[in-house]
Amino acid sequence: MIPTKPDCITIKARKVDFGFSTELPYRWYSGNPAIFNFCNAISIMFPIGEQFFIDSVRHYKDKITDPVLREEVAGFIAQEAMHSKQHDLCNQVLKVQNKQMFVIEKVAKLFLDTSRHIYPARTLLAISCALEHFTALFADQLLNSAAFRRLAHPVYAELWLWHAVEETEHKAVCFDVYQQVAGGPLGYIERCLVMLLVSVCMLTAILLSAILMIIANPKKSAPEQDKPKPVAKKPFATGWIRYLFIKPGIVPYIMVPYFRYYSPFFHPWKHDNSELVERWKAHYANLRAASAPAQP
Ligand SMILES: [Fe+2]
Ligand SMILES: [Fe+2]
Repeated sequence: MIPTKPDCITIKARKVDFGFSTELPYRWYSGNPAIFNFCNAISIMFPIGEQFFIDSVRHYKDKITDPVLREEVAGFIAQEAMHSKQHDLCNQVLKVQNKQMFVIEKVAKLFLDTSRHIYPARTLLAISCALEHFTALFADQLLNSAAFRRLAHPVYAELWLWHAVEETEHKAVCFDVYQQVAGGPLGYIERCLVMLLVSVCMLTAILLSAILMIIANPKKSAPEQDKPKPVAKKPFATGWIRYLFIKPGIVPYIMVPYFRYYSPFFHPWKHDNSELVERWKAHYANLRAASAPAQP
């Protein structure tokens, strides 16, 4: 039986406004600097990537016969559009603070634009499925990280946790559309081959981002008042190695769920992490209650 998303999960875009401004520190995470560098680099890629996901799913919108999936697709498009909008606002600040961000943006755009020109619509959807799987794995790690909530600037913590929650909510939408329009043995082979290609590109992108961050000097490009607070200094390469392999150790964290994607029986909701979404909802409901004016 094909797993479905849990009943507590709904796919609807939330209206959010994080109030980004250049007053925010570029180094917004007081722990390992590799974490804010990694997040800033993928933030730059999001608006381009999310438009790519939206287009690849929208292409098949009229071929989807299941009314529930049609509704989920509408929710997916609305959520990704809101992510794009908010990351775009965030990126405007990051680009002022670090000019290397333009390079990362150009490379991401080149990769996805080239893909649009050389691959058929079905492969583009398979690329979206693979990237959505990566996004869901990173989201799961972030939502499980107490350190992230504690050490991130509140505005950035809110941005990233909100995005992680919605990525979890819609983690199966691309996959379900792909299964409907390209299911079967050939579709399975294609999605596995595409995942291999995307994984190589992801590794290259992470490596490139790390190198660019080494040569970047955001202090020079940031306005005077935005100079970051001093953070614990760690050799740069050691920071990345710690982040990727030791603490939190992204690579070992995602390794097993990453390889599950290659199973012919894979489905994103076979890993039910809806409890993380519920926990986030309860946390923000409590925050809102705490900030509401007291009743007379
Ligand atoms: Fe997103
Ligand atoms: Fe997504």
